[in-house]
Amino acid sequence: MTRVLITGASGFIGSFLVEEGLRQPYEIYAGVRSSSSLKYLQDKRIHILPLELSDPEKLKLKWQELKTHMPAFDYVIHNAGVTQVVDPLDFQRVNSQCTQNLVQSLTEANFRPKKFILMSSLAAHGPGNSKTLAPIEPADTPTPITYYGKSKLMAEQYLTSQQQVPYLIFRPTAVYGPRDKDFLSFFKTIKYHLEPYLGSPQQQLSFIYVKDLARLIFHSLESNVSGQYFFASDGNNYTCSQLAAIAKTVLNKRTLPIRFPKPLVKSIAFMAETIARLMQQTSVLNRDKYKELTSINWGCNATQTLDTFNFKPAYNLEKGVREVVEWYQQNKWL
Ligand SMILES: NC(=O)c1ccc[n+]([C@@H]2O[C@H](COP(=O)([O-])OP(=O)(O)OC[C@H]3O[C@@H](n4cnc5c(N)ncnc54)[C@H](OP(=O)(O)O)[C@@H]3O)[C@@H](O)[C@H]2O)c1
Repeated sequence: MTRVLITGASGFIGSFLVEEGLRQPYEIYAGVRSSSSLKYLQDKRIHILPLELSDPEKLKLKWQELKTHMPAFDYVIHNAGVTQVVDPLDFQRVNSQCTQNLVQSLTEANFRPKKFILMSSLAAHGPGNSKTLAPIEPADTPTPITYYGKSKLMAEQYLTSQQQVPYLIFRPTAVYGPRDKDFLSFFKTIKYHLEPYLGSPQQQLSFIYVKDLARLIFHSLESNVSGQYFFASDGNNYTCSQLAAIAKTVLNKRTLPIRFPKPLVKSIAFMAETIARLMQQTSVLNRDKYKELTSINWGCNATQTLDTFNFKPAYNLEKGVREVVEWYQQNKWL
C-alpha cells in the first residue's frame, strides 16, 4: 500500500489532508507533536507518529527506527507550520528550519520519499501590483511583505536548492472551511450586522475551500510533475465586498459597512500585538496581519495549477461559504 506521511496532521488543513488520504487507498501516517490535539484524528486506520521537527537528530533516529520494519514513505506532505507566533523568529524556526530538518534527516537516514510536498503560501510570493490589480502570475518575482511570507519563501528556497528529494511546492491562497477559526470572526461580525473593512472594499482576494485543497494535493502526488511550485486557489478572484455580499446572503443579514482608516488599523494592530506578546499569546491582528489586510491585491492566476493537474475545484466561494456557515451553525460556533 502507498504510504503517505502528513505533518501538521492535527491542524485545520492537516486534518482534511488525512481524511482525503483515507478516502483513497493510502496508508496514512499523521505526524503530530506530543502536545497536539487528536480530536480530528480518531479514525483507527491512522498511524499516529509523534515527531519533533525542531530536532534533526531525533528525526533521523525516528527514521532509522522505522526503517527496520517498513519501507520509506512514498510521499511526504509537509504541512506543519505556524501562521501566528509570539516571537517573529518562530516563523523562521518552524516554517523554514523544520522543513530543512525534515528533508535533511530523511536524506541522511536514507529514508527518502518519492516526492516531498511543501505546503507553502501565497504569502511567500507577496501581494500583486497595487496599481494595475493584475492577478499575481506564477512567473512574477516573489516579494513577501511579512515575516510569515519570508519564512515560507526561505523554506521554498531550501527545497529548490537541494538535489536529494523530488519536491512540489504549493502556495495556497486563503484557505477556509469547517474547523477553521480564522474566518469565523468575519462571519460573526456579519451575523451581528457589521461589515468591517480594514482595507479597501475593492481589495482583490482569492480563496480555496479546504476540501478542494486536500483533493488537489492528493491529485498531485502520483503525477509525474516535480521540481515546480504552484498557486492553489479555486480559479477565481473576488473583491472584499463580494465576499461580504456572499456572507450576507448566506447568513440572510443586512449589515452596516464600516471602513476603518489605515492608520487606525495599524495602531490597533500594534497595540494588540504588544499586549498579546506581554501575555505570551498570539494575536489574530498584528503588524504582519495589518500588512496582509491592507495590501490591495491578493488575486492570483491559478490556471497553470488547474491545467497541469487537470483539477476542477468542486467549490466556488458561494458554495464553500454555504457549507462552512452550515458547519459553524451545526457546531454552535456561529
Ligand atoms: N489556513 C490558511 O489560510 C493557509 C493558507 C496558506 C498556507 N497555509 C499553510 O498550511 C499549513 C497548515 O495551516 P493551518 O491553517 O491548518 O494551521 P493550523 O490549524 O494552525 O495547523 C498547523 C499545524 O502545524 C503544526 N505545528 C505548528 N508548529 C509546529 C512545530 N513547531 N512542530 C511541529 N508541528 C507544528 C500544528 O500542530 P499542533 O496541533 O500541535 O499545534 C498543526 O498541526 C501551514 O503550513 C500554513 O502555513 C495555511
